[in-house]
Amino acid sequence: MEPIRSYQEYLNHYEEAQANPTGYWDKVARDLEWFRPWKRVCTGDFSDLNIKWFEGGTTNLSSNCLDRHLKNKGKKTALIYVSNNPKEPPQKITYSELQQKVCRMASVFSNLGIKKGDVICFYMGMVPELMIGILAATRIGAIHSVVFGGFSAQSLSGRIQDCQAKLLVTNDGGYRGDKIIALKEVADEALKDCPSIQTVVVHRRTKNAVKMQDGRDLWLHDLETTATTVFPATPMEAEDPLFILYTSGSTGKPKGLLHTTAGYMVYAYHTFRNVFQMSEEDIFWCTADIGWVTGHTYLTYGPLLNGNTTVMYEGIPVYPDAGRFWQIIDQLQVTHFYTAPTAIRALQATDLSFVTKCKLDSLKVLGSVGEPINEEAWSWYNTHIGKGRCPIVDTWWQTETGGIMISPLAHVTECIPAHATHPLPGITPILVNSSGKEIMETEAEGNLCIKNPWPGMARTIWGDHDRFRKTYFETYKGLYFTGDGARRDAKGNYRITGRVDDVINVSGHRLGTAEIEDAINTHPDVVESAVVGYPHKIKGQGIYVFCICPQAPNNPEQVKKELMAAVTKVIGPIAKPDLIQFVTGLPKTRSGKIMRRILRKVAEGDLSNMGDNSTLLNPDIVDEIVKGKLS
Ligand code: WT7
Repeated sequence: MEPIRSYQEYLNHYEEAQANPTGYWDKVARDLEWFRPWKRVCTGDFSDLNIKWFEGGTTNLSSNCLDRHLKNKGKKTALIYVSNNPKEPPQKITYSELQQKVCRMASVFSNLGIKKGDVICFYMGMVPELMIGILAATRIGAIHSVVFGGFSAQSLSGRIQDCQAKLLVTNDGGYRGDKIIALKEVADEALKDCPSIQTVVVHRRTKNAVKMQDGRDLWLHDLETTATTVFPATPMEAEDPLFILYTSGSTGKPKGLLHTTAGYMVYAYHTFRNVFQMSEEDIFWCTADIGWVTGHTYLTYGPLLNGNTTVMYEGIPVYPDAGRFWQIIDQLQVTHFYTAPTAIRALQATDLSFVTKCKLDSLKVLGSVGEPINEEAWSWYNTHIGKGRCPIVDTWWQTETGGIMISPLAHVTECIPAHATHPLPGITPILVNSSGKEIMETEAEGNLCIKNPWPGMARTIWGDHDRFRKTYFETYKGLYFTGDGARRDAKGNYRITGRVDDVINVSGHRLGTAEIEDAINTHPDVVESAVVGYPHKIKGQGIYVFCICPQAPNNPEQVKKELMAAVTKVIGPIAKPDLIQFVTGLPKTRSGKIMRRILRKVAEGDLSNMGDNSTLLNPDIVDEIVKGKLS
């Protein structure tokens, strides 16, 4: 299907996909290669939750990303890899080279006995072998589960136990600025309670010393010596599992969202080309880590399915200095740059000369993802990076949705500061009020739900279909509930206002407050805790902990340090609290429920209207908490 090239065409596509969704997706799917065509485009709905796309068809994601392009684009650069070290020159890998590397990795996995349906866990830095590894997994039909390298041993271990991975692929270490992250050491700690792991494949990156366990750990470079570079892709059924990706929810245990083969592929392909509008020679750079869904869909699969050139950067935005992103854009002549508001705000806070030293004249399109972008950051991004000539696509979506759901189409539909604007074709967002009724007025505010299935949606929570139903489809009958609130203006533009559940978004990382509370409560002096988010200038949301200790700690600073360490141990450094307030009690209803509304107001510093506290079991506690408020 030709990409959407004008506003009128967008309207036509949208209308067509509403009137005849199966006809629409049938046409899109024909752009890709299938071993066997599908029989039915879509069956199932939000009530039976047995949703299937392209049933009867067989295909392979890796061959659609790679082999499909070899005839015309074999010599074209697929991946440009930029090392953490600015002195190391960027590495260009063509489609045909990438295909061979993926075949070789598939051969390594296969020689280790990995088969279709086995789970491979990746716990790596941002190295090409991570991208090659997930493509190789999809090539042989193994399910990949990437765990972000910033998660702790305990988090990694919990995820491996949940998905029963057979193989773990990791690095000796990962470069992040001037630090080396000891990935293998963390993995060793995690694997103490992971009997499902039979083999650990270690890719050498940093050459720091690591312990290799006999009979379990193998070096990738040794395994490669006996691997082949010809490895045919396994035909996969449309609904065969593709990958599991863990994300936080409102309970303590992260959920493994399962995406399946064909629907995810078609959706990644279609959304990438229409939102970003790349020309053949353009260069796309998504700064997300492959450990998050953005790194799956828009660093790896979307660009490769479209035969475009994608950039992967190993390091951090501020190494060796705060100009690194802008230098890379000039050096590689990046045309499309996709990043998170938290990175924009962090760089906005540094000296503008880091930006003005660079030309940035190759840029054509900017993107934002992961959290609401505030108008100040939007306007800085627009003025100083886009020089007022690049559209900013503010793309709203989630791990669960697989790909972008609400977003402008670059150069095609209108961009409005801080608005995700309009839904993509095939997506039917609605707003519902607190009693679950759809709000019919165009101009409205409510909870954001999606009315109909789409190809990229997660099919289940790994091993817990009932939790999948309860989390997403029971709050509002017959609807997918996103967990986000949104406003819609008179022209139907959506503005996402943020989570309305107990999930917070810290520097674009999604964390459950319950998860953090569980970590805090592991400290022996803590009786109970409550965690809420509050507005944070750089991180978007900061983490505010209210913590009950039976005796006020003698050395509160020491206890705070221990609490930070507890969170780092249980979850990882990304979940470290910003503020910890010791209290003697928490505001509770008569039934014992913590009144988070009050705690949120205190944390936000909005003490003007504390609402009606008469239903509280312990109204006096509110005064104490307000007096002790930290900022
Ligand atoms: C949550 C999903 C989507 C990939 C990265 C995050 C928030 C995401 C936007 C946006 C406002 C956004 C939502 C959503 N979010 N994009 N453009 N504007 N909010 O994926 O970790 O699954 O988090 O991120 O709150 O529910 P995720």
